[in-house]
Amino acid sequence: MHSPLIAALPKAELHVHIEGTFEPELMFEIAQRNQISLPYDSVEALRQAYNFQNLQSFLDLYYAGAQVLIHEQDFYDLAWAYFEKCHADHVVHTEIFFDPQTHTDRGVAFATVLHGLKRACQDAKAHFGISSHLIMCFLRHLSEQDAFNTLAQAAAFKDDIIAVGLDSSEVGHPPEKFARVFAAAAEQGYLCVAHAGEEGPATYIWQALELLKVHRIDHGVRCDEDAELMRYLAEKNMPLTVCPLSNLKLCVVDDMRDHNIKKLLHEGLCVTVNSDDPSYFGGYMNDNYQAIHDALALSDDELKQLACNAFQASFLAETEKQAWCEQIKAL
Ligand code: ADE
Ligand code: ZN
Repeated sequence: MHSPLIAALPKAELHVHIEGTFEPELMFEIAQRNQISLPYDSVEALRQAYNFQNLQSFLDLYYAGAQVLIHEQDFYDLAWAYFEKCHADHVVHTEIFFDPQTHTDRGVAFATVLHGLKRACQDAKAHFGISSHLIMCFLRHLSEQDAFNTLAQAAAFKDDIIAVGLDSSEVGHPPEKFARVFAAAAEQGYLCVAHAGEEGPATYIWQALELLKVHRIDHGVRCDEDAELMRYLAEKNMPLTVCPLSNLKLCVVDDMRDHNIKKLLHEGLCVTVNSDDPSYFGGYMNDNYQAIHDALALSDDELKQLACNAFQASFLAETEKQAWCEQIKAL
C-alpha cells in the first residue's frame, strides 16, 4: 500500500494535533469508562459524520470528541495510540500540538493533560526510540486574555513544552490578535509557530512572520497567492508544515492533483509533509506521503527532500538533523 521508499524513510512529524489522533474506537472506550455519552450510536456512525465542508465543520466534531478526555490516563492512552502509529510509519521524531484550553475550560487541570502526554512521550522514547517535543497551542477563537491565562498556567511546566502555537478557526482571528501573547511567550523562552494561510489569506502568513516572529508556518499553502511572500519564504528558508490529506478533507484543495506542495518544493520552499488530524482525515504520515506521491508523481529524490526538510525544520539539535538526513540520502 505504501511505496517501499515511503515506508523506509525515517520521518519527522511537525504538525499533528494530539486531539486529532483520537480514533473513534478509543473515543468510545474512554467515553464508556468515564460514563460520558457520545451523540453517536456506534464507531461506524461517528466515522460517517467525518464529512467536512470546511475547517469549522471539522472543528465542531473535534472539540466534541475531546470532551471525553478527563483523566491523566486518558491523555496517556490517546498519545500512546498515536506513538504506535508513528512506530508503524517509521516516524522517528514528532513535535506534538496539544490544546490546553479545550480541556482546562471543562475543568480538567493543566497538569492532568501535561502529565499524561509527557508520560507517553517518555514511554515512546523507551519502547520505540521515538523522540518528541510538546507544543502548546492557543485557540485563536478565544480571547487574548484567555491565551495569557493559559501561558501563565504553563509556567509550572515550562521545561516540558518547547514552543507555543496558534490553531482553531482561522478566518476572522488574524495572528495580530495574539502578538502580545507571543512576545511574552518568546520572552519566557518558548519557540513560536502558528497556523496561517490554511483558509486564511497570505496577509495572515505575513502577520505570523512579522508580528508573531514564528520559526515555522503551519499549513501556509495560500502563500502562492503572493509572489513576494513566496520569495521571502524561500530566501529565509522558512519551513511550512503542509498537511495534504487535511487540505483535501477540509476542501482547501478540491483534488490532490491540484495540491501545490510540489510547486512550492520546486520554488525552493522548505515544505514538509504532516498528518494534522489523522484520525479525522483518513491517514497518518505514510498515507500523506503516498497520497501526494500518487497524485503528483513525486520522484524518489523529491520524497527524500521532503523527509529531510522535516528534520531540518524540526527543533532537534543540528547534529541529529544531519544524522537523519545522511540516513535518508543513503536510502
Ligand atoms: N486544530 C486542529 N486541526 C486544525 C487545523 N487543521 N487548523 C486549525 N486548527 C486546528
Ligand atoms: Zn493543524
